Amino acid sequence: MSITTARLGTDGPEVGVQGLGCMGMSFAYGPTDADEARATLERALDLGVTLYDTADAYAKGENEEFLAPFVGAHRDDVVIATKFALAMDPDDPTKRIIRNDPDYIRSCADASLRRLGVDAIDLYYMHRRDPKVPIEETVGVMAELVAAGKVKHLGLSEVTGDELRAAHAVHPIAALQSEWSLFSRDIERGVVPAAAELGVTLVPYSPLGRGFLTGAFVSADKELGADDFRRQQPRFTGANAAANAALLEPVRTVAAAHDATPAQIALAWVQQRAAVHGLPVVPIPGTRKRTRLEENTAATRIHLTPDELALLDPIATQVSGDRYADMTFTSAGRE
Ligand SMILES: NC(=O)c1ccc[n+]([C@@H]2O[C@H](COP(=O)([O-])OP(=O)(O)OC[C@H]3O[C@@H](n4cnc5c(N)ncnc54)[C@H](OP(=O)(O)O)[C@@H]3O)[C@@H](O)[C@H]2O)c1
Repeated sequence: MSITTARLGTDGPEVGVQGLGCMGMSFAYGPTDADEARATLERALDLGVTLYDTADAYAKGENEEFLAPFVGAHRDDVVIATKFALAMDPDDPTKRIIRNDPDYIRSCADASLRRLGVDAIDLYYMHRRDPKVPIEETVGVMAELVAAGKVKHLGLSEVTGDELRAAHAVHPIAALQSEWSLFSRDIERGVVPAAAELGVTLVPYSPLGRGFLTGAFVSADKELGADDFRRQQPRFTGANAAANAALLEPVRTVAAAHDATPAQIALAWVQQRAAVHGLPVVPIPGTRKRTRLEENTAATRIHLTPDELALLDPIATQVSGDRYADMTFTSAGRE
C-alpha cells in the first residue's frame, strides 16, 4: 500500500509523507551493503516514498554519486534534496567549518549537479548557518540559482524561527529540515510556529534519534564502530546513554498496544506533529535495509491516542546530554 502525500511549502512538489534519509548509505553509521542500499531505494519508491535526502558533505560527495543512477532511472518520480555549507577547514582537514559565502554556494551547486547527474536540484538546502553572513544574502544567492534553473525549491536546515522569517521574506522557503523526535523537541519553541505561520513544510531529520529510539543500540562507545558518528554525540555515550535507554520504556508500552515496534511508534509520534502543530511534516528516517524501510513506512498508518501522546510527550524533557558536542552549530545554540 502506498503512503499518503504532503506538499513541500506552498508551491513545492507533493511528496510521500515519509521521505528517505540516504546519509547512512555512505557515511556516519558504519559499513554499508551497497546492493542492499540500492534495493532499499527502489523499494522505497514502490511504497510511495519520493523525497530522497542527501548532502554534499556526506562522504565528500560520494553519497550524491551513489544516488545518481537511481535518480537518473526515475527522474520524474523522485524529488532529490541536497545541501551545501559544511566544508573542511583548509588549515585542519579533520575539522568541519561552515561556509555561506556566495562564490562557495555557487560552486557547491554546480558540483552537486555534476555528482547527481541532474539538470536541476529539486530542493536545495543551506545545511548550516554561518552567523557572520546575513541570511538575506545567502538566500539571495540561492534565489539566483532558482532563477538560473539550477535549483527548483529552497530549504534551510537548523535555522531559528527569526532566521526562517528573514529568509522567507527574500524567497519562499519550501522546507525546513531540523532534528525532531521523541528525544529532540527544541524546535517546537520558535522554529515550528514560524514554519506553520509561513506555510513551510517541516522535514524532521533523525526522527529515530539516530537509531537509539529503536533500541538497536544502547551505548555508542561500547557497541558501535570507532568511526561511527554517534560516538561523538553526548547523549549516546557513557552514563547519559544508560540513563536515556531507561526512557524508552513508555515507547515499548505503546508499541505493544499497537502490535508495532518502538521504531514505528517513534515515527508515528513525529508524523502526528503535523496535526498537533498545524503544518505539513515529512520525516526522513534513514535506513539501508528493505525490511526496515517497510517497517518505517508502515508507521505512517499508526494513529496514537491522546493518552498515548501524554505518555510519550514528557520523554524529551528527561534526556541527558546534548544532541551534538558543539550546539553552536544548531538553531537551539543561537536562540
Ligand atoms: N540536516 C542535518 O543536519 C541532518 C543531520 C542528520 C541527518 N540528516 C538527514 O536525516 C536522515 C535521517 O537521519 P539519521 O539517519 O541521522 O537518523 P534516524 O533516521 O533517526 O536513524 C537512522 C538509524 O536508525 C537505524 N534504523 C532505521 N530504521 C530502523 C528500524 N526500523 N529499526 C531499527 N533501526 C532502524 C538505521 O540503521 P540501518 O541503516 O542499518 O537501518 C540508522 O542507524 C539522514 O539520512 C540524513 O539524510 C540531516
